Amino acid sequence: MSWTPDSWREKNALHIPADYPDPAALQAVESELSSYPPLVFAGEARTLRSSLARVARGEAFLLQGGDCAESFKEFHPNNIRDTFRVLLQMAVVLTFGAAMPVIKVGRIAGQFAKPRSSPTETVNGETLPSYRGDNINGMEFTTEARLPDPQRLLKAYGQAAATLNLIRAFATGGYADLRNVQKWNLEFVSGNPQEDRYRALADKISEAITFMEACGVNGSSVRAIHEVDFYTSHEALLLGFESALTRIDSTSGKWYDTSAHMVWIGDRTRQPDGAHVEFCRGIENPIGLKCGPSLAPDELLELLDILNPRNEAGRIVLIARFGAEKAEAGLAPLVRRIVAEGREVVWSCDPMHGNTIKTGGGYKTRRVDAILSEVRTFFDVCRQEGANPGGVHFEMTGQNVTECLGGSREVSEGDLSSRYHTHCDPRLNASQALDLAFILADRFKEIQKSTF
Ligand code: PEP
Ligand code: CO
Repeated sequence: MSWTPDSWREKNALHIPADYPDPAALQAVESELSSYPPLVFAGEARTLRSSLARVARGEAFLLQGGDCAESFKEFHPNNIRDTFRVLLQMAVVLTFGAAMPVIKVGRIAGQFAKPRSSPTETVNGETLPSYRGDNINGMEFTTEARLPDPQRLLKAYGQAAATLNLIRAFATGGYADLRNVQKWNLEFVSGNPQEDRYRALADKISEAITFMEACGVNGSSVRAIHEVDFYTSHEALLLGFESALTRIDSTSGKWYDTSAHMVWIGDRTRQPDGAHVEFCRGIENPIGLKCGPSLAPDELLELLDILNPRNEAGRIVLIARFGAEKAEAGLAPLVRRIVAEGREVVWSCDPMHGNTIKTGGGYKTRRVDAILSEVRTFFDVCRQEGANPGGVHFEMTGQNVTECLGGSREVSEGDLSSRYHTHCDPRLNASQALDLAFILADRFKEIQKSTF
């Protein structure tokens, strides 16, 4: 039962590469990382936990989103700014619609490692190890690029630190000031149907702030107006990296994974006796748990007993990812059981990972309609079963990519090739992400009307 940041090494670890050509070099890098500064502070992770406890009680909503996989190639201040900006826009739309605080968590500043459905990839008869994320190996289809290289971990740490530094500056340095709400609009969204809606909403917010200032409230002294809380998260997949950044917090004397505020366990690595669950049980950060079609209610309870033995609200976010068609049949029994057992959890909906399809042209894509349909089902099931639909988890980017099909500014199959840049799964572009935020906001208004 005893836990250490390395006790996971005694367990079966799926999706962690075992084929580093020079294990001693990997060990040297992990030991170097263990002396690097933490990326986040334990106190911030605690604040996120208490915000998530509010989500569990239905007093706030969780918006989690960002790249499927961050990459070294797409590392650019404009990309960070644009993703941050769309998340702010979505959060404003949702805050207005839901009339409650929106907790903003990026899949950013550390979301590199990927579990892959197949350990190898075959192209034109040649078979090589799969690409596993930029912190492990390279995407190019060559033997050399696909070899795991521990130096990549140091580069990933540096990129995460620089990304987080810019996000912190945006969040507190004036960029995220609500009085700038009009300026967050991205140029390429102009002319899209939801741009007018966003502008109209931004006008209302600006008017409300002007009114409050006229009444004597000074926006510069009200933190909620001039700053945002923005948290980071990624899948805790590559445990050597995570354990190197796991430290004892001097305030509480407890272990925190300081690589991000929140980490999650993927659908492929949530075995109750596996390494990922072992690692996550010992850290105090909020933990996400992906729940897919193969998860039975009994196993979910077993996982909660391990990960949250004291049943504390704010510790666990259950991220349902069934796919539009399986969502109702898969989710309802889980929610029913959790409600019946009185478990404190946040229910969130990842409508991305169960809805991936391949087009005739060979592109991995997702239909916005399927994404929407899964979110709708999620809301309906949670409400029928007496749970709060607490949040959403999207793969999205601020870039004008063409990776998912549909949206009010339609991306068609023929468009996919024009700006398909993802290193892993297809992401919503800014316009599609904003579409979804408005639809969700409308859903909240309907729910509120039907409740009163
Ligand atoms: C992911 O979130 O990128 C992912 C791989 O999800 P899942 O574990 O739900 O398949
Ligand atoms: Co993904």
